[in-house]
Amino acid sequence: MSDQKMDSERRNLILATTAAGSVAVVAAAVPFVGSLAPSERAKAAGAPVEADIGNLKAGEKMVVKWRGKPVWILRRTKEMLASLETTKDSLADPDSKEPQQPEYARNTQRARPNPNPDTGKDGDDYLVVIGICTHLGCSPSDKSAEGNWHGGFLCPCHGSQFDLAGRVFKSQPAPTNLEVPPYKFLSPTRILIGDDSGAGTSSEA
Ligand code: FES
Repeated sequence: MSDQKMDSERRNLILATTAAGSVAVVAAAVPFVGSLAPSERAKAAGAPVEADIGNLKAGEKMVVKWRGKPVWILRRTKEMLASLETTKDSLADPDSKEPQQPEYARNTQRARPNPNPDTGKDGDDYLVVIGICTHLGCSPSDKSAEGNWHGGFLCPCHGSQFDLAGRVFKSQPAPTNLEVPPYKFLSPTRILIGDDSGAGTSSEA
């Protein structure tokens, strides 16, 4: 074999090795980048979940899964909000004094102000609660207004009733209100569930 031929074969081998190395680097980079987004396992373990509420109309509810639990986001109408004052005397814990929710949920609406300019000065029309009955864990259903009942939620298992802020009525099997998870508004149309850091914890936040 001539020296010239040997040089040519060695150069080809070096090029092939370098190309294979480049492929390996790219292949290794893809799973790493992908792992920056929360995986299903991370979500199940408690990673925050973002919800787009931009298309939710007044009176509509959407459900988002967080930590394997259904979180309801209900955009309440002005009538629904007004009904919360009328239910007060019939409730077990109208001011949500039980330590089961963030500080900003300890008010009649059990909600924090939303920066949506369409919501008026109150901006508290979004109810965010975990849709699991606090008695034995069934899933309450929506119950629309009828007669003196202004609407709310009814647990099909043992009949616990909750108002439109997820507050349980007196003398029901469920001992406490539906739980409000930590959350914050990222913008007027996006909610982050599972993380309220940096957004303040009071009802004014
Ligand atoms: S589980 Fe809801 S009332 Fe018993």
